Amino acid sequence: MFGRRLRNRLAVAPMTRVSASGDGLATDRMKDYYRDFARGGFAIVITEGTYTDKDASQGYDRQPGIADRRQANSWKPVANSIADHGSLAIMQLMHAGALSQRQGADRVVAPSAVPPLGEMMPAYGGSGPYRLPSAMTTTDLAQVRKGFVAAARRARRAGFHGVEIHAANGYLLDQFITDYTNRRDDGYGGAVSARIRYPAEIVAAVRDSSPDDFVVGIRVSEAKVNDFNYRWGGKSEAETIFVALAEAGASYIHVAGEGRGFRESSTDNREPLTTMARGMTGLPVIANGGLHDPDLADDVIRNEHADLISLGRAALATPNWPRRIANGERVVPFENVMISPSASIQNTDAWFARQLAHGMHA
Ligand SMILES: Cc1cc2nc3c(=O)[nH]c(=O)nc-3n(C[C@H](O)[C@H](O)[C@H](O)COP(=O)(O)O)c2cc1C
Repeated sequence: MFGRRLRNRLAVAPMTRVSASGDGLATDRMKDYYRDFARGGFAIVITEGTYTDKDASQGYDRQPGIADRRQANSWKPVANSIADHGSLAIMQLMHAGALSQRQGADRVVAPSAVPPLGEMMPAYGGSGPYRLPSAMTTTDLAQVRKGFVAAARRARRAGFHGVEIHAANGYLLDQFITDYTNRRDDGYGGAVSARIRYPAEIVAAVRDSSPDDFVVGIRVSEAKVNDFNYRWGGKSEAETIFVALAEAGASYIHVAGEGRGFRESSTDNREPLTTMARGMTGLPVIANGGLHDPDLADDVIRNEHADLISLGRAALATPNWPRRIANGERVVPFENVMISPSASIQNTDAWFARQLAHGMHA
């Protein structure tokens, strides 16, 4: 897959850990954190959402960026340590759009000036309502697109095998896809065929500026961090989205938060989005969301609902999950306190230290 031999069908899902330096550099602790997933047997390690430009893309304080050469250089040891341990290193590229909760941000942009639902997330250092974003101008569209292209080039030079463009979970590109956050009337809003246009243009621009063997994946979802209940308008809307992204040149489609679809599908035959994505595009598809039960994950692969499984919280709790499962060893169950009150690596480290002090999870 992706022109390479993968050692299994398991990927680490992107997870924001708000653990970078104040100016967005990847740290030594982050290098070890990512290395542990590779050493633990994951075939693919996808990084946390990393911001693409210095204008308005950053979502959180202590989020890493790939917006300049210094930030790119700080990622080199991370990419190298993932590759040295035999895994594919993919950087997730993220523009937060209206969901930016960076303190003191002077500009928050979105497809339209629509106040986001919900409130900022305390685990990522925010509180209170989101700011009202300003609608992106035509110049903004071009600038942000350029930001993704330059960020992908820096990621490649830093040693990553590919990038994953974040168009899921309510962030900028998902704000374009979603009907109530996109009220544009300039050809980028309206019907879903227009709402998918900008995310597809980003994929095409990154694809066109990258060598053939560089992976350019895309991540989509129905639900959002600030709206768990949003759903696409059925199979025809899903088809428009998936086909547009495939035609733009995506190397794979990563569907976030689809675990519920698999459980529902076994009882009422609802077709999971990943099954649709595979059938409609022929691309490799990564399924994600609540798939840490090895039997369920196995079923998803065996029944060809997806080509790969990505694990978020289970990987966070047990970075060597693939090795442990293969050896029939116990895994550490995820607990919310691992990412609360902060989603930082330091907070999880402190949790493990407390467990060790009590003689658990040695
Ligand atoms: C701490 C944390 C941070 C996350 N950050 C991101 C992110 O940066 N980008 C993204 O696309 N999804 C992010 N997610 C969502 C996960 O990738 C995944 O979709 C979600 O945890 C469900 O999968 P799981 O059941 O395997 O955990 C995050 C999840 C968690 C728990």
